[in-house]
Amino acid sequence: MAHTTPNNNLQAIVLAAGKSSRFKTGTTKLLEKICGQEIVLYSAKLLEHLNIPTTFVVGFHRQAIQDALVNGVHHELSFAVQEQQLGTGHAIICSKSTWFAENILIINGDVPLVTAEIINELYTQHQTTNAGLSFVTAHNADPSAQGYGRIVKDGNSIEIVEARDFKGDTHQHCCINAGIYIVKRSLLDEALAQLTANATTQEFYFTDIVKIAHRKGHTVTTTVAPFDLIRGINTIQELWVSQQIKRAEIIKYWMEQGIQFSAPQNAHIDIGVTIGSGTRIASGVQLLGATTLGTNCTIHEFCILEDSTIADNTTIYSHSIIRNSHIGSHTQIGPFAHIHHASTVDSHVIIGNFVELKNSCVGAHTKAKHLTYLGDAQIGSHVNIGAGTITCNHNGSTKNTTVIHDHAYVGSNNSLVAPLTIGQNAFTAAGSTITQDVPADALALGRAHQVNKENYAHKLRNTQQTQHAPKTPPLPEQPL
Ligand code: UD1
Ligand code: CA
Repeated sequence: MAHTTPNNNLQAIVLAAGKSSRFKTGTTKLLEKICGQEIVLYSAKLLEHLNIPTTFVVGFHRQAIQDALVNGVHHELSFAVQEQQLGTGHAIICSKSTWFAENILIINGDVPLVTAEIINELYTQHQTTNAGLSFVTAHNADPSAQGYGRIVKDGNSIEIVEARDFKGDTHQHCCINAGIYIVKRSLLDEALAQLTANATTQEFYFTDIVKIAHRKGHTVTTTVAPFDLIRGINTIQELWVSQQIKRAEIIKYWMEQGIQFSAPQNAHIDIGVTIGSGTRIASGVQLLGATTLGTNCTIHEFCILEDSTIADNTTIYSHSIIRNSHIGSHTQIGPFAHIHHASTVDSHVIIGNFVELKNSCVGAHTKAKHLTYLGDAQIGSHVNIGAGTITCNHNGSTKNTTVIHDHAYVGSNNSLVAPLTIGQNAFTAAGSTITQDVPADALALGRAHQVNKENYAHKLRNTQQTQHAPKTPPLPEQPL
């Protein structure tokens, strides 16, 4: 995407204080995530991308918001603190010590889907019309689109009437305020002083600046943007709607890159995910965090992959969960596999149904096909792990490692008591509890010897019948 980068006569202020009272969770909405990214990081990354120096006004839960921002973007941010949450006008007053540019871009922090195109258009319009104030609007005649200020024009005058004061017809006044403005610094200074002087309520509406700018004879211009891209998030339902929009946007993008979805309406892909072409994604799949999929993979129904990498040509069968792990190429995982805690699986591996891998690595061409737990294990290549095998990696206080060298064959239903090493080419017998290291090329048997007692079954049944005979005497038989 080619963007015109606004030059240095523009700085940004993002409003990220406020109590999120309509969110009703007791915490700040700005740290809720949309497709894996905090709401507040959307504007931070956009402004970083546009190379506009930015100040965030923070208040409620300010440390947590600052931490998320500092971890999420590379460019330097400055912060201003709004101690009391007295409205958007007051928030901007609190940022005054950080103003330096000729023009100030003000963005509500709860408008995450705004694009670079919208900001660029607003800036271009502001510059070409030499406006004192320019702001973004959208059209929404729906009276249920609550919480937006409506643009009211009367003859030559223009003002924003906030939702709680608006009594008019929403069809007649279908133009709403997006909460994104560029203001000349001199006008901002003057207007906020007037706003403070005129304040009759506890709350300062920044939007009153429109009326003030107009009265002072400044040019006021507006740019129209699609409503979906400027939706604000005040409630949990609005968070959900914005997330649906972003989700659809991400899925459409990946379709354009050659990814097929069997049920795109219920796949979820986070913003930080990358997918190689030719990969297929089934219904209910969730690709989360910084997950990367290679080319020509198939991810079957209801898999959850988080912060993991999957190399090319690998198939993940349904209901598998993979977190913080790497899976090699030409590999099969699942169904119902659970791979987590920095596990790595090499190429041409089969990890089958009900197999769990925790903090383990598995070499190429190894198979663990059924009902197995491998924890803290280092497993070489061409190893076979029999069905029902488990590593006993925890002795009640510490975790211990199991090492299984190349070409070893672990029989079914083994308990491998760590710390333990099984040498190259070694065999362990089915049903073994292996407590000692097994040398290379050895066969280890770790189970009780079987004893067969000839014709004992009949005797055993008699004994059992006597033991299970009723203790109360039987009732006397009825005379015939
Ligand atoms: C605001 C606009 C409204 C516009 C809508 C667009 C005002 C008075 N109204 O309404 O015209 O249509 O956005 O989404 O500006 N904040 C602070 N400090 C505060 C209060 C809020 O920093 O004291 C921050 C919030 O975190 C939020 C942003 O400012 O990110 C907007 O505040 P909010 O209360 O959501 O304003 P709206 O009622 O949505
Ligand atoms: Ca809002």
